[in-house]
Amino acid sequence: MKTIVITGATSGIGNLLVKEFVQKGYLVFAGYRNRNLKKRLEMFSENIIPFYIDLSKKWTIENAVHFILDRTEKIDTLINAAGCVIAGPMECLNVDRIREQFEVNTFAHLSLTQGLFEKLCLNGGGKIINISSTSSFGVYPFIAPYCASKRALDMLFNSMEIECGGDVKVISVKPGVIKTPLWEKSIELNKDVLGDNEKYQKELAFMIETAQKGAQSGLDAQKVVDLVVKIEGLEKPKPSYVIGFDAKVAEVVSHLPQKWINFIVRKMLEKRCIF
Ligand SMILES: NC(=O)c1ccc[n+]([C@@H]2O[C@H](COP(=O)([O-])OP(=O)(O)OC[C@H]3O[C@@H](n4cnc5c(N)ncnc54)[C@H](OP(=O)(O)O)[C@@H]3O)[C@@H](O)[C@H]2O)c1
Repeated sequence: MKTIVITGATSGIGNLLVKEFVQKGYLVFAGYRNRNLKKRLEMFSENIIPFYIDLSKKWTIENAVHFILDRTEKIDTLINAAGCVIAGPMECLNVDRIREQFEVNTFAHLSLTQGLFEKLCLNGGGKIINISSTSSFGVYPFIAPYCASKRALDMLFNSMEIECGGDVKVISVKPGVIKTPLWEKSIELNKDVLGDNEKYQKELAFMIETAQKGAQSGLDAQKVVDLVVKIEGLEKPKPSYVIGFDAKVAEVVSHLPQKWINFIVRKMLEKRCIF
């Protein structure tokens, strides 16, 4: 029986991945932060072992590592799927909020991975699949903390892949906008970002509208799941996969000179057609 560890297991892409892999006969360690949702994971299958992890709290990552290591001899694949979006204009976004973003989307994944690394290296090397984002290409204003956290995630883990000389395979999956609860949650998470600041109100309204649109019209999350399942089964996966038309456009745009990128993004922002 293959063993897989998945964070962000109670919602969206992570939740679908848990269900998909357990149906394929895997033993799944499923990371949750909302204790009310633990039961649902347990009830789905006896081959799901839920573990508590709040990526913004270091001690829960340490506990999660011990919990998993105590219960399994080997780990075939780790999927770092949990994530959130911190948004706002760079002029007034509190730097502590940006630190929080990096803590959850970048550093916590690295800590968890380091804790599980040895067991991922057994049996000829396991896989680490990070659910990164097209935002890693860095072309979206007002969600710069999110973009930067995903870019940093990709850079740190790509280095890991090179350094460890094939002991593990590291894969970055970069979806475009996907229909999941992430967008509604991001509206809630960032609702006080401007405080009394009058500036950027128009842009904030546009951001909210865009997030609502993403929640309704993004790509079906099952498409990402299908891709991840395929990657998990490959002997020689590529280091990076881009999924969604918008993601592919962002990738192409990211190769242009920065001056051109900024021009295009400003124009799109003016025409309210970004994302
Ligand atoms: N949706 C998109 O358009 C999109 C596009 C590109 C990449 N992604 C990436 O895909 C991944 C999955 O997101 P999703 O779209 O499936 O959104 P989602 O439904 O909101 O799922 C995110 C998961 O991460 C968990 N999470 C958030 N903050 C956490 C924390 N501090 N500690 C532990 N767990 C935490 C959430 O827990 P709760 O269930 O408790 O909220 C949830 O299970 C994320 O990394 C996201 O950045 C999403």
